[in-house]
Amino acid sequence: TFLGIDLGTSGLRALLVDAAGNPVGATERSYDARRPFPGWSEQDPSDWIAALEGAVEELRAKFPAFAELRGIGVSGQMHGAVLLDDAGQVLRPCILWNDTRSHAQAARLDAMPELRALSGNIVFPGFTAPKLEWLRENEPEVHARVAKVLLPAAYLNHYLTGEFVADMSDSAGTSWLDVGKRQWSDSLLKASHMRRDQMPALVEGCEEAGRLRPALLTKWGLRGPVSVAGGAGDNAAAACGIGALHEGQGFVSLGTSGVLLVARDGYSPAPETAVHTFCHAIPGRWYQMGVMLAATDSLNWLARITDRKPAVLTGQLGDALKKPGRVRFLPYLAGERTPHNDANIRGSFTGLGLATSVDDLTRAVLEGVAFGLRDSFEALKATGANMESLIAIGGGTASHYWLRLIATVLDLPLRLPAGGEFGAALGAARLGMAAATGVSPESIMTTPDSRETIEPAAEMTGAFDDGYDAFQRAYPALRSVQ
Ligand code: XUL
Repeated sequence: TFLGIDLGTSGLRALLVDAAGNPVGATERSYDARRPFPGWSEQDPSDWIAALEGAVEELRAKFPAFAELRGIGVSGQMHGAVLLDDAGQVLRPCILWNDTRSHAQAARLDAMPELRALSGNIVFPGFTAPKLEWLRENEPEVHARVAKVLLPAAYLNHYLTGEFVADMSDSAGTSWLDVGKRQWSDSLLKASHMRRDQMPALVEGCEEAGRLRPALLTKWGLRGPVSVAGGAGDNAAAACGIGALHEGQGFVSLGTSGVLLVARDGYSPAPETAVHTFCHAIPGRWYQMGVMLAATDSLNWLARITDRKPAVLTGQLGDALKKPGRVRFLPYLAGERTPHNDANIRGSFTGLGLATSVDDLTRAVLEGVAFGLRDSFEALKATGANMESLIAIGGGTASHYWLRLIATVLDLPLRLPAGGEFGAALGAARLGMAAATGVSPESIMTTPDSRETIEPAAEMTGAFDDGYDAFQRAYPALRSVQ
């Protein structure tokens, strides 16, 4: 069997799969983020270890097949900085991807021409390098003691193997990696006052990073050896979970944030579009994605302030798609990454009238998120990515209305995967399988069957194109009044 671990922001999911890659069982443990000051978001890495140990204990007790474990893969929330001293001790809580305290440091780094040129990306405030610059300026005594910086997944790899090893896909989100060459860049490291010896060794996500430590073999009742894969950042892992490895294959994820991801055979960065260009978890491939910061979070917000459940709000719309109305919503409740790279912008409704109903607001919110995804779609197309259909994943896919709307706004069929497991945990288990068996990632990372394909409403694409034009004009106008 193989174990996939998804080290998320709100919890850890552990999935056991059999030798054919089919799910045997899964469990979850949750933990909190601390927000001691506005913009801060931190977690204690020991909470992740406790979650992992608890999850493994449960899987061992429930599934005898755990004893046959051969490989492990870890998928991690990206960008966070776990800081270790020279004895391997954690120096302070991990500063997470959704922590914005280092926005000034990010802007300063981003203004240096070599940053975008070598890392292929904007230095977003959530990325790792600006966090270390913040540390240097605000906690210099801690900064001076940093012997290693590990991303969350690499920290878990370290716990599992005792080695300091990170994978390419996650490392691509640090602003220290030359993303085209897939190696640490001395000039990027220097730009944020870091050294190569503070970085972990690099492997591809599907390669072996190390073997499970003898102490854990004993504790978990395993014979061994157990391979631990390089692993992946969560979006690359999700791409492995749905088999998006080749040019043009991808997904749209309707979660807290909205992600439109497409796999690329080559490296064609376009930082000016605020598209993210990262290494994939398998050699010689990359992926690109647009990230919008509030997708289901926009609907959840409307549900909260109207004292209804999100499913009630969307259910009231029925199934028949309506053309865009006059009420418009700009989905910038948490600022925006793609295409605006604007941490300060906030959302708005326009076109409200005396007759505006809650249903009108709901439609506007769903449309605003769909138009935000179209922004990412257009930005991805501008890099040369060609998408013919996308797999839709995430909690927001429970609304048929929303899916039909997004298919129409993108003018692209959306496929819904059959079966329950196709996320980052499955992708991680598949990486563990590839590392342990040496079987090619292509034959392991297959695409799930579709349970349904949602086609665009052809008669409405024109109306939604007009709606999208208006949406695009609204951002600069909104910015000018905030
Ligand atoms: C990607 C990003 C998020 C986190 C969430 O750039 O910031 O998707 O990886 O865990």
